[in-house]
Amino acid sequence: MLKKKILLGVTGGIAAYKSAELIRLIIKSGAEVRVVMTKAATEFVQPLTYQALSGHRVYTDIFDAEADSAMDHIELARWADLMIVAPASADFIAKMRNGYADNLLLTLCLASKQPVAIAPAMNQQMYANRATQDNIKQLASRAVLIWGPDDGEQACGDTGPGRMLEPTELFERVAEYLSPGKLDGKNVLITAGPTREPIDPVRYISNRSTGRMGYALAQAAHQAGAGVTLVSGPVNLDAPSGVERISVSSAIEMRDAVIERVAKVDIFIACAAVSDYRVEQVAAQKIKKTTQKIKLELIPNPDIVSEVTRLKNKPFTLGFAAETEKLEQHAVEKLQRKNLDMIAANRVAAEQTGFESDTNELTVIWPDGQRLLTLNDKNEIAKQLIDLVAERYNASS
Ligand code: PMT
Repeated sequence: MLKKKILLGVTGGIAAYKSAELIRLIIKSGAEVRVVMTKAATEFVQPLTYQALSGHRVYTDIFDAEADSAMDHIELARWADLMIVAPASADFIAKMRNGYADNLLLTLCLASKQPVAIAPAMNQQMYANRATQDNIKQLASRAVLIWGPDDGEQACGDTGPGRMLEPTELFERVAEYLSPGKLDGKNVLITAGPTREPIDPVRYISNRSTGRMGYALAQAAHQAGAGVTLVSGPVNLDAPSGVERISVSSAIEMRDAVIERVAKVDIFIACAAVSDYRVEQVAAQKIKKTTQKIKLELIPNPDIVSEVTRLKNKPFTLGFAAETEKLEQHAVEKLQRKNLDMIAANRVAAEQTGFESDTNELTVIWPDGQRLLTLNDKNEIAKQLIDLVAERYNASS
């Protein structure tokens, strides 16, 4: 990690002593570390300990940082290649989720354009609390990297998830994150979310896609070094930082946004749940309720991914197959019919996979191979899928 710059934030928790070892490992790898502590953290470890290990003064106060002509708090935020808060207490996570800036570390999290990782560390009951779970989920949806926690014996005597990851594990995450990406210099276009096909000014046909899988892929591709454009249907998610988002509503709008951009793209990933049909005659006014049956005439929408793979200079293309039965058979048919380089077969009838869930499982198929990505968090599945796409893309070019 030669010459990389890491800003380590330490909050009040017994695991703060482990951060000393993390600093040592980072320094040994040739990177530079600056440490910021909250007031509560200084109750557990003396700033002098981190100062001695990092070779730099430790920042504890926002006014302190501003008074330091060498680096004020905005400069500190800009200086870092990566910011990691380890340990991140439940209180800190709650404040960060709400955008508080009442101490230096929180201010830096708000002011940073760079990636921020947190290593949660707290009592297992506090971690399991819905408030904490909700806070962590929110931060993850804003592209904050969530590293840990570990499961095991805790300082308070409890056992369960809540321990901070060990310094060696955290160091590996930092090193992996900062190592050259597998998709460095590549442009990736991803579709995500549902489409909405209007019936009249107030009604539409849509589906259960939340966009979580596609957004996780955009984040993973960005982390792998790619320039990422995300063409997204209407979802309730923030764009991952560093990713350009184009918001669309209908399948036709999604098609136009993709076709306009696809010429400059190396890899296209079609994760959106595009409506196969749209209403032929969209009513100009709200359709009035009567006691009679009504009929909606539906016509097929353009197949976006097939249009892309028909292009003369088609990008490397990964499609998805959302299936409720005969998963692999239907996926292979789509791989061939849509002329894809790879397809991710997604069983969508089960609760933990596919639409709306936080987890997923995919069988990824390409013409001469396949790999199962077993049930895991969508962010982790996305990371594994992007690694596999990079591997297959490099093998094909
Ligand atoms: O968004 P989440 O809640 O996280 O859920 C994720 C997901 C289940 C939506 C996702 O993992 C997934 O399976 N996406 C594909 C959904 C889908 O529409 O599959 P399909 O089998 O109907 O379509 C096959 C492929 O053709 C897909 O790549 C699709 O994007 C593409 N397609 C389909 C129709 C169309 N008109 N144009 C397309 O490009």
